[in-house]
Amino acid sequence: MRTLIISFCLMLNTFVALSQSTKVKMMTDTDGNAINAHGGGILYYGGTYYWYGELKSGPTYKVPDSDWENYRVKAGGVSCYSSKDLKNWKFEGVVLPSNKVDKKHDLHTSKVIERPKVIYNKKTKKFVMWMHIDSEDYSYARSGVAISDSPVGPFIYKGSVRPNGNMARDMTLFVDDDGKAYHFYSSEENATMHISLLTDDYLSHTKTDIRILIGDKREAPAVFKYNSKYYLVSSGCTGWSPNEASYATADSILGNWTTQTNPCVGKDADKTFYAQSTFVLPVIGKPGKFFFIADMWNKLDLKSSKYLWLPLHLNANGVPIISNTK
Ligand code: DGJ
Repeated sequence: MRTLIISFCLMLNTFVALSQSTKVKMMTDTDGNAINAHGGGILYYGGTYYWYGELKSGPTYKVPDSDWENYRVKAGGVSCYSSKDLKNWKFEGVVLPSNKVDKKHDLHTSKVIERPKVIYNKKTKKFVMWMHIDSEDYSYARSGVAISDSPVGPFIYKGSVRPNGNMARDMTLFVDDDGKAYHFYSSEENATMHISLLTDDYLSHTKTDIRILIGDKREAPAVFKYNSKYYLVSSGCTGWSPNEASYATADSILGNWTTQTNPCVGKDADKTFYAQSTFVLPVIGKPGKFFFIADMWNKLDLKSSKYLWLPLHLNANGVPIISNTK
């Protein structure tokens, strides 16, 4: 109980401190190194936050013969940082390394490993990671899964799928209050988002797989729930370049999703403050308060891309507001 109260107080202090500083772009770990966890997501487990993301290192290059801004670095795998207070982040290592030898392997450095998200399965007591796996021309369009007994790995890679035969690129996971987990993924050449219910062990997709935001061309999904309503923040599809975010709502997760407006307000709101959504983190003990977590991509030097953390709150009408001013 004491630990819970301390965590709660730390969270409140952190929310106030981060809200006052309004944005966090530069983030370093407890060793003073830049945090390297892009396109990431956060798991809260046992009083600790675990931040998983893409490890980006080495030179950025443009894939030859691409007719779009296909900048990339060699895939570095998935890194993990832990924190009790969301301010001090300890590097826990590369919990899912890339493969340097087998060119055919999904995790080979020549492939794309993006937007990893980890959830905990209370029944199996396993930590399950799903991620976007692709070839360097993004034609493979699959979802990979890895499993671990510990939040800090090692994660064992189990392979990749096209969920129910569908293309799958940008993605996130959401665990509902009843323990059911859902995989949100950009599909159909990124034109349409899908939501698929995962099996009870979170390792496969069930046949329950619905199409939402049909033809809207959305990616970078980030999902949260408030007052029994589901919210999905997403970006447009403009490669690494920033664009306008929007959010959609639904009264039931597999129900009808309705596109709303841009949740960002203020200067540069039409460019998501030069960032792209990756995760929305609920603040413990503060209903209606969240952190909007986004990547500020530097497409010409991806490893130096920074992060934007902004408070997200819901107004009296349940409208989410992300502001870059106090
Ligand atoms: C936008 C996606 O959101 C990113 O994760 C990445 O796949 C880039 N496109 C690649 O251009």
